[in-house]
Amino acid sequence: MTAPDGGPREGGEGAPFRIALLGHGTVGAAFEELLPERADVIAGDLGQRPEIAGVLTRSRGDFDDLLGRSDLVVELIGGTDPALDYVLRAMQAGKHVVTANKQLLSQHGEELYAAAAEHGVQLRFEAAVAGVVPVIRVIAETLAAAHIDRVHGIVNGTTNFILSAMARSGSSYEEALAEAKELGYAEADPTEDVTGKDAAAKMAIIARLAFGAPVHLDDVPHEGIEHLTGEDIAYAEELGLSLKLIGSAERQQDGIAVRVFPAFLYRDHPLASVEGAFNAVTIESSAFTEITLSGPGAGGPQTATAVLGDVVSVMAPPPVGPPAPVNLSLVSDIESAFYLHLEVADRPGVLAQVAEILGLQGASIGSVVQKGIGDDARLVMVMHPVLESKFRAAVDLIERLDFVRSPPRVIRVIEEVF
Ligand SMILES: NC(=O)c1ccc[n+]([C@@H]2O[C@H](COP(=O)([O-])OP(=O)(O)OC[C@H]3O[C@@H](n4cnc5c(N)ncnc54)[C@H](OP(=O)(O)O)[C@@H]3O)[C@@H](O)[C@H]2O)c1
Repeated sequence: MTAPDGGPREGGEGAPFRIALLGHGTVGAAFEELLPERADVIAGDLGQRPEIAGVLTRSRGDFDDLLGRSDLVVELIGGTDPALDYVLRAMQAGKHVVTANKQLLSQHGEELYAAAAEHGVQLRFEAAVAGVVPVIRVIAETLAAAHIDRVHGIVNGTTNFILSAMARSGSSYEEALAEAKELGYAEADPTEDVTGKDAAAKMAIIARLAFGAPVHLDDVPHEGIEHLTGEDIAYAEELGLSLKLIGSAERQQDGIAVRVFPAFLYRDHPLASVEGAFNAVTIESSAFTEITLSGPGAGGPQTATAVLGDVVSVMAPPPVGPPAPVNLSLVSDIESAFYLHLEVADRPGVLAQVAEILGLQGASIGSVVQKGIGDDARLVMVMHPVLESKFRAAVDLIERLDFVRSPPRVIRVIEEVF
């Protein structure tokens, strides 16, 4: 945004571009504060000055009145009810919509994309995935012509904060969660975050844009982090691995697989060094190897910046919608490497028997760490890639062996090194 002399453009007047602001919480209030700070520069560049036409909360404002006085609706209420109704009515009235609402997009995306196309308006949602990190724009616009093979992401800051804290201080899951709550990185009820559901919603949105296939939140299997222990992380350190909650959307021979799961990454993986509440997304294609985007995935001012970026894009098109839907089946049983943690009786032949059962299912051991604990031993191993169903079948058999002292723990390992 520069003037012909290279300096920033300031003080443009321009006609008002009126924004209905639905929701005035963490992000809504930050947006209202940010807008006047940036309005001069935007008006100088675009000849139109964005301004808030009015605010709607449960106790303030009337939706129909506000809609009639606005050019664009910014939806920052969250959830699906009444956000879905408001967003659809706005588009039916010919108004553009900007939203940060992942629940809405991951559960009603097709209806919303269709409504935007039918009514010739833009629907923008950069802030719905990874806050201010421009994942949506890059996939939907910059890489619109690329054949994307896979998207891997750390798309939930709360869980990344917890896992980073466990790795940094050796604290338990419960201690790290308490610290996250104290510092404002986790909500009082963190269920959606720690079960992986929040990340699943974001991966459904990403998969729709990257592969064109409609993916509903309910189509995305998700595993959370509640069952992880400080011990898993300590062993991983010895094996040169770091533990992350990964959202993954990838092409398979017969379709696409979209999932959320905790995974160990080798330290050279671009996502391995992403710490604390940061988000990061790696986009892979044979055309360009990989692109990794990272930055703050939440926070009022940060998210409001992404929302305002979308508003500016609407004011100065070009519009790019999601690709037309295609029929791709969702594949659930795919190959991956695994970490396997076993507590066993410390006697001869145990490792050989475990290896034999794994071998019969086609699973071979890549590396192993063994430690004695009194009369028992811990066997921690990383397997070479194997079809998940075969590996799980082997683990079921191993669990039944008389020398196995507690349920085996299994975590996927992402093997690629860039
Ligand atoms: N917070 C973040 O860091 C962040 C990051 C990325 C994306 N997002 C997304 O941004 C959106 C807003 O999040 P937030 O954290 O700002 O939420 P929030 O702090 O809970 O604010 C929600 C706002 O919506 C209003 N609201 C709730 N129900 C309403 C209803 N039935 N009718 C009208 N207004 C209603 C609330 O007003 P009253 O309670 O006063 O009525 C409040 O002003 C969500 O979709 C969220 O997923 C947030």
